Amino acid sequence: MIDMAKPSTTRTRSQQWFERSQQSLVEGVNSPSRGGAVYAPGPVFLERGEGSHVWDADGNEYIDFMMSFGALIQGHAHPTLVEVVSQAMARGSHFATATSAEVEAAERLRRVVPSAEVVRFTNTGSEATMLALRLARAHTRRTKFLKFEGHYHGWYDPYLLNAHSHVPEQLGPRENPARLPDSEGIPASTFDDVVLAPWNDVAAIERVMKQHGRDLAAVITEPIMANMGCILPRDGYLKRLRELTQDCGALLILDEVVTGFRYAPGGCQEYYGIQPDISTFGKALGAGFPVGAVAGPRSILDHMRWSENMVLHYGTFNGHRLTMKVAAANLDLLAADGTYQKLHSVGDAAISGLRDVFRRHNINAIVQGFGPMFQIYFTGRDAIHDYRDYCAYVDTHLYSRFVHRLLERGIYMTPSNGLHWIISTAHTDSDAKVLIEAADQACAGLA
Ligand SMILES: Cc1ncc(COP(=O)(O)O)c(C=O)c1O
Repeated sequence: MIDMAKPSTTRTRSQQWFERSQQSLVEGVNSPSRGGAVYAPGPVFLERGEGSHVWDADGNEYIDFMMSFGALIQGHAHPTLVEVVSQAMARGSHFATATSAEVEAAERLRRVVPSAEVVRFTNTGSEATMLALRLARAHTRRTKFLKFEGHYHGWYDPYLLNAHSHVPEQLGPRENPARLPDSEGIPASTFDDVVLAPWNDVAAIERVMKQHGRDLAAVITEPIMANMGCILPRDGYLKRLRELTQDCGALLILDEVVTGFRYAPGGCQEYYGIQPDISTFGKALGAGFPVGAVAGPRSILDHMRWSENMVLHYGTFNGHRLTMKVAAANLDLLAADGTYQKLHSVGDAAISGLRDVFRRHNINAIVQGFGPMFQIYFTGRDAIHDYRDYCAYVDTHLYSRFVHRLLERGIYMTPSNGLHWIISTAHTDSDAKVLIEAADQACAGLA
């Protein structure tokens, strides 16, 4: 049982592991989003998870609202998935050849995502978005593509432009955004083919498409901007983007790595009623196993068929048998009656409770998003609509302090404001209540 009245400060074992990990791992971790820079003074080492709860190396218990950056849509150690993996593993992990498991996973994905005539599985979301762009370029015989400020599509070179936040002074004018690479080690010429535009602004995208549309192989977008927290598309924005891309012969790549299978069985394309040319999936598809997928019409994905002019996509672990077994079982679980109603109602209860807490404490904060995914912004604004709003108006330091206070009160979340709160099928109304109580305590004296 989580005892919120006694904030836990014992992280001795996590600290010891963190010191030890620095000897063998860069910054003691395997991704810069997990280390001391985000979790200062150091990350909590998690050792066990069950349902919506996790336990750290010191035995502290938390309700997990990060859920592996959204991968764990069924929570931790779902009994059906444990059984599926155990049985599959006993017959061999992976054969790197054709298996019935990958057929069954693809069939289920096609059943819920109408734009998915055919599917190709990858191992991560980054591989999926990388492949989607290669396909779009081969299909259109154009090289340029458009990405939006603040959107993250994985760590593939050409996508690493303006995916991190910056101080507003660095952003340049909205009509001609400054181009800010997110990583060293990428040749500047990589970005020559990237057109950068502000998101969620119909007038801006109409202007940019008029100028560049006919040169673009693709426009790639997250349907909900999930890497600056949780920023919803304005009414009609995605539909207008669909029309503009169609008019110019550019493909629309909908990056549903975060949103896929989350808001509706068919992802945001179902929720918002748009038909992309190519969709990319990851995270929730594998329910904790590493996976990505590219889906779309045969006319585009068939460029990968063996020929002299094929689009190459290799991968020893593509369609990994254990992952495919889990993905198929996960999609079956998600298809059960009431799944999405519960994801939405638990999430909405958490959101409205948090809004009440901030109101009661007179704290300038908004909770943006709905149902299964949301984010808290400490801001005086009524809403955050895009990257520029996020960079200018969100107090990310206060958010980090707030999350550290929640960590001491048995709520597990990343202190990075750019991520988002996740509701899994394992979360309950009582988890939402515990979160609201913990937030109430964490708000006392926060500002
Ligand atoms: C929208 C989006 N696309 C792609 C990716 C890359 O996925 P992965 O981390 O599995 O490579 C991410 C990861 O967070 C993402 O948020």
